[in-house]
Amino acid sequence: MRKLLLAALFLTLTLCSACGARTASPGDAAEEDLTVIGMCQVGAESDWRVADSESMKTVFTEENGYRLLFEDARQKQENQISAIRKFIQQRVDYIVLMPISESGWESVLQEAKEAGIPVILVDRMVDAADESLYAAHVGSDFLREGAMAAQWMEGVFPDERENVGIIHIHGTLGSTAQLGRTAALEAALEKHENWELLARLDGDFTQAKTYEVMTEYLSSLPGRGNIDVVYCENDNIAFGAIQALEEQGYVCGRDGARVITFDATRGALTQCLEGRIALAVECNPLLGPLVEEVIQTMEAGGTPEKHRYVEEQVFTAEDLTEALIEAREY
Ligand code: AHR
Repeated sequence: MRKLLLAALFLTLTLCSACGARTASPGDAAEEDLTVIGMCQVGAESDWRVADSESMKTVFTEENGYRLLFEDARQKQENQISAIRKFIQQRVDYIVLMPISESGWESVLQEAKEAGIPVILVDRMVDAADESLYAAHVGSDFLREGAMAAQWMEGVFPDERENVGIIHIHGTLGSTAQLGRTAALEAALEKHENWELLARLDGDFTQAKTYEVMTEYLSSLPGRGNIDVVYCENDNIAFGAIQALEEQGYVCGRDGARVITFDATRGALTQCLEGRIALAVECNPLLGPLVEEVIQTMEAGGTPEKHRYVEEQVFTAEDLTEALIEAREY
């Protein structure tokens, strides 16, 4: 296991402050025994993302034997690439990357490989054909999540003669979460001729952007739209969509637009219990312990599983209670 030289760490930390929050600061000689993790998070665009960062920070502590260098890329791939290059210069032991989108990673991952630093991909994937560019991937099966939502829709709208009007609000284009959830909806639209895509809007996984695009869309309609389903690719998109719909007099729930969301954070489950959200598909952000397992396997000289997908479920109001939501970790 390679350890950082304290002097080098101090120098680098002093020089590199431009790329976001840092959890680490130079310490004493005991640090030489710490495993150094350079972690590059997408940003803080959603409640899910905040919970994911928290999960990492809870696991990778000095008490647990780690020194975490945490970079928030503020939604920019170029910030992620600069952070990785910095981690390579710092000679960290492992790089943990949550890639904002799938493309454009080959060169920088090759640089990490040549420096002998294992890269662990978390949450989303990269589309690099060469699997040796990363040691392991831990995250969600986004296509499966979308398929679970489509299956639920088939149960709610069984009549193939009835028109089903759907608004699709997608997340960051080119991200694995967007690609998988969108592909599942597209496959279902192909399958059901009576399902009509009324609009496809870009919510970029944020509440503010969704509120804006949804308000604009609803205002542009000549009359009241026949909206049966709003397929929102994460909770924050759902919050923005509901806000816009209700402001314009639409009802969200059994008697109106059925809002589908992904993540199932506490806020979304609360709205699901209240009836505003019809279906919440779980996307588990608590990935810190799984990433630690990968690192522990490698520290012990083993080879981690290349892809590890977390188990996830769906929730409707019938599955929920206040106590269950209260007990939830995110
Ligand atoms: O990649 C996971 C997705 O990214 C989550 O659904 C979303 O909330 C986050 O921003």
